[in-house]
Amino acid sequence: MEKRIHSKKTFTLPYRHYLFHFKWPLVGFAFVLSLLIFVQIKLTSIFIPYIIEEQHLEHFNKNIIYPIVLLNNDNNTHRLNMNYYFLKKDELKIMDDIYAIKKKQKVVLPSIKNRHKPNSYLILESTTVFGRPRFCSYTNEQIFGRACPYRNCKYTCDRTRDSDAHVLLMHKRDLNYKLLNSIKRNSEQIWLLWHDESNENSPEINRYKFNWTITYRISAEASIGAYGIIILKETPWSAQQFDSWIDEQFIKRHNQAVWFVSNCQPKKRLKKFRSLREFYSIAAFGKCISSNESFSLNAQVQSNSKCQRDSSCEQNYLKNSKFYLAFESQSCTDYITEKFWRTLALGAIPIVSGPERENFIRVAPLHSFIHVDDYTSDEELAQTLNLIATNRSIYEKYHHWRRYYDVHHEAKDLDPFRFCELCYRLNTNTQRIWYENINDWFLDKC
Ligand SMILES: *[C@@H]1O[C@H](CO)[C@@H](O)[C@H](O)[C@H]1NC(C)=O
Ligand SMILES: *[C@@H]1O[C@H](CO)[C@@H](O)[C@H](O)[C@H]1NC(C)=O
Ligand SMILES: *[C@@H]1O[C@H](CO)[C@@H](O)[C@H](O)[C@H]1NC(C)=O
Ligand SMILES: *[C@@H]1O[C@H](CO)[C@@H](O)[C@H](O)[C@H]1NC(C)=O
Repeated sequence: MEKRIHSKKTFTLPYRHYLFHFKWPLVGFAFVLSLLIFVQIKLTSIFIPYIIEEQHLEHFNKNIIYPIVLLNNDNNTHRLNMNYYFLKKDELKIMDDIYAIKKKQKVVLPSIKNRHKPNSYLILESTTVFGRPRFCSYTNEQIFGRACPYRNCKYTCDRTRDSDAHVLLMHKRDLNYKLLNSIKRNSEQIWLLWHDESNENSPEINRYKFNWTITYRISAEASIGAYGIIILKETPWSAQQFDSWIDEQFIKRHNQAVWFVSNCQPKKRLKKFRSLREFYSIAAFGKCISSNESFSLNAQVQSNSKCQRDSSCEQNYLKNSKFYLAFESQSCTDYITEKFWRTLALGAIPIVSGPERENFIRVAPLHSFIHVDDYTSDEELAQTLNLIATNRSIYEKYHHWRRYYDVHHEAKDLDPFRFCELCYRLNTNTQRIWYENINDWFLDKC
């Protein structure tokens, strides 16, 4: 009875009251719907090409952009499967974009229906890159890479094509504001800002409302392989191969950490070096380091006091030390530069500071580096370093990832990832995007 009256009453309710009356079933329906959407998204992220050996599972995290290892698949088709990187990158990008949109740094408008899709895309290098042409003499394959699944992007340096190019690529350090002011802007054309350097406050750039960026930030439209990338080895090392590598390295390498520093401005990392040095031996080089601080245990190179950053002498250190201080000059989000990747590539363990640990674990294996923020004191950090350096089984833990992965850190290997991602973005993006406050966006967490 009660029920009938109830339903009769609602029948005559106006639409809005009707909604209100049935809010719980509606909420339930919305919940199930969102659950379905959620599960759908997760299903795509469970697309794991490799099955990990159980004991190594702890090394992997699902919020990473590189493929997860699979051992029982002998034909490695996912090794350089760029679509895998794009899929993972976009999952991470969405989260960072939401943050950027909330902070009014970025504007993302929903998709434009029935938008005309060109058959191919033209990218114009419309500024120099550090005063020089960058890819003008490169072939398409050198720019976009052999493994790129998108093959319809073209690159030109012919500036007379600035009105029909789909993308104007402009390097931040080479921007010509006068020229920018004179360009008559077409709202379908993508203004793409390229920037890989450290960040400085430059609010004047906000006037130009760039659409996309190519930089190291995951939230950028092209970021994969900015300074380095983890890729699957063609064939994983066998347990024996790995064991003998560890045996050799563990004995060969000095326990002493090394640091090369050329920029003395960031005081925080110098301070960290000086305080850590009280507890752990570090050989440091560079103009900000006084000679009594560069004491080295590595007799081979000790006599060479002119050891420079990026020299073979530095390489020698990286190949003969267990640790390298890969301290970034800034803490800006995702600002992880070549020193980190080079350290990994040369077999040492990077001790990192600057960006948050969460930024590192999205792009590099969990147990491949040591983040100073994970330790409450320098003494505690030094104790850990000492354990790693002196206990083979603990040392081994920081290198397990090497069984399955390689690191690329040179521009010629990395550029194709970035430009392939750009081509992917051109082919798949349907949103209207621009950076409302690109200055703040770059300076995030700096
Ligand atoms: C991959 O392996 C499967 C079965 O082992 C085989 O049928 C297939 O041809 C291989 N694919 C390639 C590209 O080698
Ligand atoms: C290194 O030498 C400078 C003076 O040249 C001195 O001020 C500093 O305390 C010394 N540092 C150490 C660790 O001995
Ligand atoms: C090395 O560390 C492992 C694990 O913590 C421990 O079981 C082992 O006894 C240590 N070995 C030495 C020689 O201290
Ligand atoms: C590019 O940014 C401009 C400036 O805000 C905007 O008007 C235009 O719609 C954007 N274009 C695309 C394709 O996102």
